[in-house]
Amino acid sequence: MKNTSKQSTLLKKKNIKIARKYKSDADVVLFEGDRLDLMKLLPAKSVKLVVTSPPYNIGKEYEQRKGLDVYLAEQEETLKEAIRVLSDDGSICWQVGNHIAKDGEVFPLDALIYTIGKKLGLKLRNRIIWHFGHGLHCSKRFSGRHESIVWFTKTDEYTFNLDPIRVPQKYPGKRNFKKNEKYGTLSGNPLGKNPSDVWEIPNVKNNHPEKNGHPCQFPIELIERFVLSMTNAGDIVLDPYLGVGSALCAAVIHGRKGYGSDIMKKYLDIAEERINAAAAGTLKRRQMGTPVYQPNGGKLAETPPEFKKARENLFGAGF
Ligand SMILES: C[S@@+](CC[C@H](N)C(=O)[O-])C[C@H]1O[C@@H](n2cnc3c(N)ncnc32)[C@H](O)[C@@H]1O
Repeated sequence: MKNTSKQSTLLKKKNIKIARKYKSDADVVLFEGDRLDLMKLLPAKSVKLVVTSPPYNIGKEYEQRKGLDVYLAEQEETLKEAIRVLSDDGSICWQVGNHIAKDGEVFPLDALIYTIGKKLGLKLRNRIIWHFGHGLHCSKRFSGRHESIVWFTKTDEYTFNLDPIRVPQKYPGKRNFKKNEKYGTLSGNPLGKNPSDVWEIPNVKNNHPEKNGHPCQFPIELIERFVLSMTNAGDIVLDPYLGVGSALCAAVIHGRKGYGSDIMKKYLDIAEERINAAAAGTLKRRQMGTPVYQPNGGKLAETPPEFKKARENLFGAGF
């Protein structure tokens, strides 16, 4: 495994060239059309990270529900092309939730995408659980509060920079206690610990600073972890199902190039505005590493008497 220590150039202001057609000298390409039409224009092995969240085939405004087999065949086509454009030390990260059939049956897309990736010769490195606090309240199954990211590599020689994505330890002041030459010294890494494969990052709902007219945006922070750990400055990041460009904002913020496609022009227009703001250092966003908000007292966090009564009615007093 390659462990390159070159870090992001966290640029405050950067002049970038944004193109609406594929141009090899552009910093950012925003292609209106089908993902395969963009990907076919890209040279083999030219992209370091393909990170995306495809439609889930659940009938959002940008998709028509289709048979699961048809949907998965389309995902396979996208993955095949992703593998062609991926450099040998590159990574593919597919962020997916569940496909819910009309009768309520749940199909975990990560498992299905894993099967396709494995068939195409990819190697799984992590299945990351992205946990978030808000979403639909279900009445016939447990409410979904996680999605996953299937991280594949093409070879065993892949880029993985852990230092830029370390997170604070729970007990950073812990010291070595074994009676050896390290006794009494700090035991943790000064840059923090490995963030693990369970990530708690708020999803983009109405009160989120990044909410921008798309029903299911990536939080930029989620993609920053992939960009920083799996690419180096100047590398190319590709999101074939771009939406409002969150993945490319993460790329631009950290001095990478970014290409993306979407069939909806209105999303690409928003993406262009956001990417320009990212380059200018003015993009409204939740900073990477901001702790998840916990209510600290206040009226809204108090249990109302009606709720206490309802529990008592169900369980009897004392519960
Ligand atoms: C789950 S959303 C991605 C949102 C994105 N991650 C963001 O942060 O905005 C999937 C996107 O894929 C786009 N899409 C659907 N079919 C497509 C296709 N054949 N080629 C390219 N994009 C497509 C949709 O318009 C939608 O914006």
